[in-house]
Amino acid sequence: MALLHILRYPHPSLREKAQPITVFDESITNLAKNMLETMYEAPGIGLAATQVHEAKRLLVIDVSENKDKPLYILNPQLVDKSGEIDNKEGCLSFPNIYANVTRAEQVTIKYQDLEGKEHILEADDLLAICIQHEMDHLDGKVFVDYLSLLKRNRIRKQLEKKQR
Ligand code: NI
Repeated sequence: MALLHILRYPHPSLREKAQPITVFDESITNLAKNMLETMYEAPGIGLAATQVHEAKRLLVIDVSENKDKPLYILNPQLVDKSGEIDNKEGCLSFPNIYANVTRAEQVTIKYQDLEGKEHILEADDLLAICIQHEMDHLDGKVFVDYLSLLKRNRIRKQLEKKQR
């Protein structure tokens, strides 16, 4: 396994729309395992393939306390959502930036696992928030897009300063 480089905002590839996965082979499994290791190492609770410069519809998530319940989510599709929850979010592409975002409190998604088998997942609270945040990445959307232009510009300046 290997650690992958996580793209930092405002890298233009974070705006790319990821493509569906149609072949469930060893290269996808390897990518997923490397993404999981990279996420644990960071440390974080979710990572989208977009963030490691792979425009594929693949997420890894683990919101468990002991980091022993990894989820590999391929080709996720939102089936249902309800409620509203406000939470302070961060993102591995935005080091040390946190901001309040309102999301659905419960979501139901349809996705495929590493073998291509279909699953339905009903999630709430932190897992639901994480799924929505990571699914946004697959469409080139990041959490600061929910903030005002003023706040977004402030965050962009902060991150650009750090990268110089
Ligand atoms: Ni993120």
